[in-house]
Amino acid sequence: MEKQKSMDASFFGQPRGLSTLFFTEMWERFSYYGMRAILLFYMYYAVSQGGLGMNQATAASIMSIYGSLVYLSGVVGGWLSDRVWGARKTVFIGGVLIMFGHIALSLPFGLPALYASIVLIVAGTGLLKPNVSDMVGSLYDEGDKRRDAGFSMFVFGINLGAAVAPWAVPWAANGFGFHLFGSTMNFHAGFSLAAIGMFFGLIQYWLDGKKYLSKDSLYPNDPIDREGLKPIITWTVVGVIVLAVVLGLFGAMGQLNITNVINIITIIAIALPIIYFIMMLNSKKVTKVERSRVIAYIPLFIAAAIFWGIEESGSVVLALFAEQRTILHIGGWHFAAGNFQTLNPLFIMILTPFFVWLWSKWKRQPSAPGKFAAGMVIAGLSYMWMALPGIIHGTTAGRVSPLWLVGSWFIVEIAEMLISPIGLSVTTKLAPKAFQSQMMSMWFLADSAGQAVNAQIVKYYSSATEIPYFLIVGTVSVIFGAIMFFMVKKIHNLMGGID
Ligand code: GLN
Ligand code: ALA
Repeated sequence: MEKQKSMDASFFGQPRGLSTLFFTEMWERFSYYGMRAILLFYMYYAVSQGGLGMNQATAASIMSIYGSLVYLSGVVGGWLSDRVWGARKTVFIGGVLIMFGHIALSLPFGLPALYASIVLIVAGTGLLKPNVSDMVGSLYDEGDKRRDAGFSMFVFGINLGAAVAPWAVPWAANGFGFHLFGSTMNFHAGFSLAAIGMFFGLIQYWLDGKKYLSKDSLYPNDPIDREGLKPIITWTVVGVIVLAVVLGLFGAMGQLNITNVINIITIIAIALPIIYFIMMLNSKKVTKVERSRVIAYIPLFIAAAIFWGIEESGSVVLALFAEQRTILHIGGWHFAAGNFQTLNPLFIMILTPFFVWLWSKWKRQPSAPGKFAAGMVIAGLSYMWMALPGIIHGTTAGRVSPLWLVGSWFIVEIAEMLISPIGLSVTTKLAPKAFQSQMMSMWFLADSAGQAVNAQIVKYYSSATEIPYFLIVGTVSVIFGAIMFFMVKKIHNLMGGID
């Protein structure tokens, strides 16, 4: 077995199983980011334009809380794979739920279909996303030098799917270039394409996976026994009861509305990582050095949450700017507001080789906390940059050059290079032995917490408020980054020999 793993080099020098996981995740991200490229517009466009006619603030808030839930549910998905189903089956079930989520949106059932789809895709992505990445790791023996390159290729697959979808899905929604739906949009056609993408991913995963993924992935790493199950059931029941009581109370007071549901989720998404930190810091299984590393992880976590807050607002705040404030053609070349979502993954694909080269050459490069501090400052600048068109033109009423958005995404992707891959690897290194897989969930919880905060603040964004909005949020990120610069040495010392 061991020998086989390191000998298989049939996919560009990597194990053949990497190809399976590469294409599965490529299609899954295609469906996710394709759906998100049009979802915001679907929610707030008038019914006569093919939308649901929600108000813009609520639609923006739903986009963010949805994104938050998608990464929150990974906690459960990781656990189910580890203890119950094994990664292979968990990923498949997740993909099926995701596909049905997109199918729900492709049907003309309005708001109920939207909520059903959110539930399915949140659950499905929670099952699929953390475990498909985990399976990439298990393609390699410990010490296999190809591991980092393998992960880079996998991330490339993520971004390839994410880059193509914002062209394909809005194109379908606009009538496949034939104006099939007149001047209105048919969002359902777009969502169907997302469903078809996930379907391809599943077929490929099923057929290829049987041949090329290891049998180990069919079993849980740490199967749960009856004894272990008892407290889990107790706590799940307690959790469900508490939630039902809270929702019941809101209902009794006539306050059970979307805003309050979003508020409750925001609180959960922020409370959960705090609880995790307290648990790890107090656990008897955590050694002294490990505890110090967990303490070092706290500022890194906060930095990541702020960064992801800005990065993820690209599909909300910047999407609104694309739709309402941007000239949507260059010469005779017309494009859709949703197409701008391609810029984030595109810049990642362009910048990654440069940063891989930089980190391999730069002898006295900053430590992870230093890179995080720089990342926060740069992410903040990408926001402050977006205040400029309104300031320069002296009004936020008309439309401005698409280059403003291109510039903003370029800047924020430099920050992503300093935070996303670095964060992923430092998370695994700082994890206490007893909390290895939970710590990976923590990384996604940073994104979740950032978007939970977004769900509260994006409501205040509109063309009328864009200048103060971009300036305030951008400044907060820059200030946090600056504070972190002064703490770099301290945090680094706490990391106990890890850089
Ligand atoms: N955007 C990346 C993805 O979709 C990473 C998200 C994250 O790390 N929070 O996979
Ligand atoms: N920025 C999103 C993720 O990497 C697309 O990768």
